[in-house]
Amino acid sequence: MDKFIIKGGKRLEGEIEISGSKNEALPLTVASILSNDVSVIRNIADLADLRFMISLLEVLGVKAELHDTVLHLDPSNCGGYEAPYDLVRKMRASIYVLGALLGRLGRAKVSFPGGCVIGTRPVDLHLMGLEKLGAKISIEHGYIIAEADKLVGTEIYLGGVHGPSVGATINVMMAAVKAEGVTIIKEASGEPQIIELAKFLNSMGAVIEGAGTPVLTIQGVKELHGAEHEVIPDRIEAATYMIAGVITRGNLLIKNCIVEHLESVIQKLQEIGVDISYKDQCIRVTANDPLKPVDVRTAPYPGFPTDVQPPIISLLSTVPGISVITEGIYPDRFIHVSELNRMGADIKIEGASAVVKGVERLSGAPVMASELRGGAGLVLAGLSANNQTVVSRVYHIDRGYESMEKKLASVGADIKRVAE
Ligand code: EPZ
Repeated sequence: MDKFIIKGGKRLEGEIEISGSKNEALPLTVASILSNDVSVIRNIADLADLRFMISLLEVLGVKAELHDTVLHLDPSNCGGYEAPYDLVRKMRASIYVLGALLGRLGRAKVSFPGGCVIGTRPVDLHLMGLEKLGAKISIEHGYIIAEADKLVGTEIYLGGVHGPSVGATINVMMAAVKAEGVTIIKEASGEPQIIELAKFLNSMGAVIEGAGTPVLTIQGVKELHGAEHEVIPDRIEAATYMIAGVITRGNLLIKNCIVEHLESVIQKLQEIGVDISYKDQCIRVTANDPLKPVDVRTAPYPGFPTDVQPPIISLLSTVPGISVITEGIYPDRFIHVSELNRMGADIKIEGASAVVKGVERLSGAPVMASELRGGAGLVLAGLSANNQTVVSRVYHIDRGYESMEKKLASVGADIKRVAE
């Protein structure tokens, strides 16, 4: 297990290049098993989660070759239908193989993913959607067992108590592309990765309309073929480094990002008093004191992303005044807060909200990452704190940030990775 040693207080200045989106690449790699041909996916970031997903696909019989950022997937011998507990427990996105295997083989056995440290994460909407398509589903010994002689298109409403589900939309899309007839998904997720998945599936021969809107119409087809696709830049990584620039009151150019995907974050940072300009695929953030406290509510896209909640809480901990951050997606996603308070932050959790009283300066301390985005938030806090911060269990951060310490060091941060 590695840890990061950070000597805080350095103003970040320079350019950071954003890698390919984790949350788009994950479903795309799985979607490749819906054909028997080779698919090629470009701009794959070097992330632990993508390595887990490739291992899972290999267990199912897919031949995978990753050269630099280009992934070749040959599913011609993909006959396995079981996603074992050991792989699924490491990464919840493994649940995507459920829909894809139903579409490919008409059966799947996937370990139940269970909850995780950001709160309970049910899969009821995934299962309901697949059942509506005609799958028979049972839960046995911790596994979801799904079987379908044939899948038949129908209308499916996928709205949950916290809005649409990204994962359920993905799972149902992957089964529905091979169903007989038309499937209409209502209250579908409109996140950018859904639009990209629809583009990829369409280039494989699927017929999907409406991606990016709440209603998806999918005309089932008998066969799909291989395709090529380039993964878009990771908007959560971009937002994290924008906030790294701001928390150090620095000046960063974030290169290779899609400005449109970051509008809610840009607007919130402007409200805080950050100077932001953008051109083509680059965003410049420049921050100087004084900054202003703000209220934030996380919401499905295009709302403020829940995955950027931990970084913005770290930032607001350093902005004098009271900010209230409310979780609209995961009411319990505040595990990083107790670690931030150990660094001198003044944050109280009230229900699904964090009430943050900004302090003059955070103080470096040993802290532990317990999940990916919370871990990133702690790194940002360490960059701004005085003295030394040691963030342990950085394997959580490696799941979703490619070479975080190298990117930050290249813009002036004093951060080192050491083995624990
Ligand atoms: C995706 O998770 C992302 N993961 C998460 O990012 C992200 O936080 C989340 O979407 C919300 O944006 C990937 O893309 C791999 P959901 P997902 O289903 O699909 C409830 C990261 O750090 N719900 O959209 O699992 C659920 O509890 C990760 O990169 C049900 O009630 O999220 C939540 O309140 C962490 N029943 C809401 O819907 C279900 O069957 C949205 O969850 C499914 C979800």
